[in-house]
Amino acid sequence: MTEMKSPVLVEFDSGIAFVTLNRPEKRNAMNPALNARMLEVLDELEGDERCGVLVLRGAGESWSAGMDLKEYFRDNDGKPRDATLKARRQSGNWWSRLMYFEKPTIAMVNGWCFGGAFTPLVSCDLAIAAEEAKFGLSEINWGILPGGNVTRAVAEVMRHRDALYYIMTGELFDGRKAAEMGLVNEAVPLAELEARVRKICASLLEKNPVTLKAAKDTYKRVRNLPWDLADDYIYAKLEQMLFLDKTKGRDEGLKQFLDDKTYQPGLGAYKR
Ligand code: ACO
Repeated sequence: MTEMKSPVLVEFDSGIAFVTLNRPEKRNAMNPALNARMLEVLDELEGDERCGVLVLRGAGESWSAGMDLKEYFRDNDGKPRDATLKARRQSGNWWSRLMYFEKPTIAMVNGWCFGGAFTPLVSCDLAIAAEEAKFGLSEINWGILPGGNVTRAVAEVMRHRDALYYIMTGELFDGRKAAEMGLVNEAVPLAELEARVRKICASLLEKNPVTLKAAKDTYKRVRNLPWDLADDYIYAKLEQMLFLDKTKGRDEGLKQFLDDKTYQPGLGAYKR
C-alpha cells in the first residue's frame, strides 16, 4: 500500500526545528522513502533561520526500529545491485550529513532504538534519552552484523567491552544504561524528556552559531588526527571562524568582559 502521509514531519518552535520520524505504525523503521525525505529535510533546514537547533525525535512510542527489514532489505533482495546501492547511499548520506550539520543536533530518544538507528543517533551532536527508552543492537538476532556504519558509530561512543557485549548478545538495554555507557549524554524520565531537551536547546541558542559549528566540527575531526595535524586544523578552523563570523563575536565577548564588565565567560555566554 502506498503511504500518503509524510515519513518525516518538521515543526518549528522557539528556534528549534523538531524533526519527527513519522512511521509510528512501523515503529519509525527507516524505509527508502523516509531516508530520501530526510536528505531533503536536512537540505531545507540548513539555511532556514527558524532552525537554530535540530531535534530528531520519533512519532509514537519509538525513536526508530532501525532499517525497514521489508522495504530496505527484503524488497531489494534479488534486484539489480544498483538498486541496493542507491538505497544504501540514501541512508548513509543523510546520516553523514547529520554528523556535520550546520546547526547543533540533538537526538531526543523517546522510545525503541534499534540497529540502523544507532548511526543517526551517534551522528547527532548530543543525545538525550528517556529512561524508559529501549535500545538494542538486534542485528545478531536476525542473522547479520551491524552494518550501515552502526559498528563504527558504536565504536565511536561505547566502550570496547560494552560494544562487543551488545553487538554479540543483541540484548536490550534501557536509557539509563545507555547514559551510563556514554551512548547518550543523559537519561531522564520520559515525562521530562522534551523539557530537558528544550532547556539544552535554549542554552545552545544563546551561543554564537558560527562558533558552535566550528567547535563541533573541530572536535569531531581532530579526534582522528595526529597531534600536529590536529593543532594545525584547529588553528585553521579558528581563523576560518573569525572570518565567517560577521558579528565579530570574539571581540564582542572580550569587550563585554574586559571593558563593560557585564558578564563573566566562566559563568555564561556574552550577550549577542
Ligand atoms: N522493519 C520493518 N517493519 C518493522 C520494523 C522494522 N525494523 N519494526 C517494526 N516493524 C513493523 C512490524 O512488522 C509491524 O508491522 P505490521 O503491523 O504490518 O505487522 C509493525 O511495525 C509493528 O511492529 P510490532 O512488532 O507489532 O510492534 P511492537 O510494538 O510489538 O514491537 C519492536 C516493537 C520491539 C520494535 C518490534 O517491532 C521489533 O522488534 N522490530 C524490529 C527491530 C529491529 O530489530 N530492527 C532492525 C535492526 S537491524 C538494522 O537496522 C539493519
